[in-house]
Amino acid sequence: MRQTEQMEAMATEESANTDIRSTIAGYPSISSALLPTLHITQREHGWLPSRAIEELAESLELTSAHVKGVATFHSMLNNKPVARNVIQLCTNIACMLFGAESLLDLLKNRYGLEPGGISEDGRFSLVIMECIGLCDQAPAMLVNRDVHARLTAQSIVEILESYD
Ligand code: FES
Repeated sequence: MRQTEQMEAMATEESANTDIRSTIAGYPSISSALLPTLHITQREHGWLPSRAIEELAESLELTSAHVKGVATFHSMLNNKPVARNVIQLCTNIACMLFGAESLLDLLKNRYGLEPGGISEDGRFSLVIMECIGLCDQAPAMLVNRDVHARLTAQSIVEILESYD
């Protein structure tokens, strides 16, 4: 790692630590800050490495097992490395009825994406969701924090091509 990259990584880590401390200070009990601080930790690393979970557990005065248990329960928390962009495609009933399965096939054929996998170029990870609250606009997905609904085979490609 070059010196400038090391300095950037240290600045990012310090910024995350500051955010975690100020988040903890905003809650009546330390452990109540678990979910928001998990999101801060994920923002720093892109996912939740074991070492980061252990450090967070120490800050929150919780066991690593407790923090890991919460981290593995929530689908928006990544417990393994992910690509630059995370696609969360809903395949539950409303989205399935409106073509989510064919979108899944398209992602596999065009990008080599399997559920839980990463595309070869490292651009996309694919996570299957059980409803993202957009049933009236099915089929729907999130890419990172962006919502995309009423997807078609054409629109999903156009949308994904806008992500580096
Ligand atoms: S079933 Fe897909 S958003 Fe609800």
